[in-house]
Amino acid sequence: MAWPFISSMNPARDVLALSTTEADIKSVPVGGAVTLVWRGKPVFVRHRTAAEIESAVNVDLAELRDPQPDSARHKAGKAEWLVVIGVCTHLGCVPLGQKPTDPRGDFGGWFCPCHGSHYDTAGRIRKGPAPANLALPTYAFTTDTQLKIG
Ligand code: FES
Repeated sequence: MAWPFISSMNPARDVLALSTTEADIKSVPVGGAVTLVWRGKPVFVRHRTAAEIESAVNVDLAELRDPQPDSARHKAGKAEWLVVIGVCTHLGCVPLGQKPTDPRGDFGGWFCPCHGSHYDTAGRIRKGPAPANLALPTYAFTTDTQLKIG
């Protein structure tokens, strides 16, 4: 009788395969975005414009609910690439803002319509009920545009 339970404890092969996700993001245009999946969660990759980077940098940290400078939100020398977990820190909905036609909220990043959380172009919470910034996954660039998450 114990066997079915023990068997279910072994991670399936496809789950193991998803413990890391790799993608070449060179085809994502400036201002565009792509959504990857890592460990069953959406990961938002945004190719930020110079104006989006500038607006993220020029924020008074004292205004932020979860204060983090823009430099802590991306890899050094890679300010144009923002990589965040696309799960709202309020109740776990997936915010809008990845498609060109999506609303991006009052701060140009993402908007979670579930209860109205607005995130800025660094994925920081700026307005609404979410308590924290969009989380950052573990990731690295293995080449200039090859991203490895996990
Ligand atoms: S889950 Fe995003 S605002 Fe509630």
